[in-house]
Amino acid sequence: MRYHNTFGINVRCRRFAEYKNIGELYEFICSQPRTIQRLHIGKGSNLLFLNDYNGIVLRSQINDVRQLPCEEPGVVRLRVGGGLVWDTFVNRCIQHGWYGVENLSLIPGTVGAAAVQNIGAYGAEAGEFIEQVDCMNLWTGHRQVFTHDECRYGYRFSVFKTPEMQGQWAVIHVIFRLSTSFQPRLDYGGIRNELQRQGISEASLTAEQLRQTIINVRQSKLPDPKVTGNAGSFFKNPVVGREKFEQLASCYPKIPPSDVSPYEVKIPAAWLIEQSGWKGRSQGRVAVHNRQPLVLVNLGGAQGEEVRQLAYDIVTDVESRFGIHLEPEVIFIG
Ligand code: EPU
Repeated sequence: MRYHNTFGINVRCRRFAEYKNIGELYEFICSQPRTIQRLHIGKGSNLLFLNDYNGIVLRSQINDVRQLPCEEPGVVRLRVGGGLVWDTFVNRCIQHGWYGVENLSLIPGTVGAAAVQNIGAYGAEAGEFIEQVDCMNLWTGHRQVFTHDECRYGYRFSVFKTPEMQGQWAVIHVIFRLSTSFQPRLDYGGIRNELQRQGISEASLTAEQLRQTIINVRQSKLPDPKVTGNAGSFFKNPVVGREKFEQLASCYPKIPPSDVSPYEVKIPAAWLIEQSGWKGRSQGRVAVHNRQPLVLVNLGGAQGEEVRQLAYDIVTDVESRFGIHLEPEVIFIG
């Protein structure tokens, strides 16, 4: 599985299967003994394997993009295969003049995984553009379409991440609603600075330039998983009550807030981890990245347990200092 998880953890699975169409997946599901566990992955960019996986790993090769009929002016509806690489999809959208997902450029993973994780970056989330998710149950082969509302999208959350639903569904296709007019979102920190640095004026900005800007910002902060094993943000940014935030702010006036609602405040986990002294620190074959402490990295040859131990040590330390419990964003397998 080493090349199927971006942490680069060297584990084995019992069986690995890729499917190119719905029929192949259905036949495969029905032909396998129900006693064997099943795991559907995208590009393995949000997983941490703790052990060998004694089950079947499935991956989609359904990569088609089809434009669907749409009467609404200014709207494009697309049906996209769950196995398509997310960034290939973003690039293709920009080339065709279908707008909305530019800020999600260069996020690793597949379209199917994006719909499950509700990937987000630089002020945008995939769920905003998803109309429906067409799935197959991994145990029964039963097809079900989940509407946008049924997906219950929230910050790094969807219905597919609830305990009853997690790991039960293969995403066959995702139906997106995009726009034919380009309305850039530039408010997230760092984007305007990078545009200025490149000498690009907001008035003449194109979607291609915005994509390149997002790519530059990401590449300047986040380690490339092809070079250094990692799964992007290891933890979610915690959301705390306003009272708790005010209490912390009285001790740490520099704590950077990001408002979520009048009652709740999101605090950057990167800040909590840095303040706790973990930024850039290594522990054997694993480390906290030195530019973005939300990212844990495999320095080479690490096992999943070593990453988990480092994560546990950080969570314990941050909790004892700030009284805030960090939740992993990465899914532990095994
Ligand atoms: N910060 C520090 N020290 C650092 C880095 C950041 O204190 O070394 C603080 C700063 O206050 C900074 C704030 O953290 O303003 C936010 O940092 P950044 O903009 O890098 O974003 P993030 O909250 O750490 C989230 C996502 C990323 C996404 C970026 C940009 C989560 C868990 N992570 O990170 O998503 O790319 O915003 O939108 O929400 C991913 O999910 O894998 C991922 C990389």
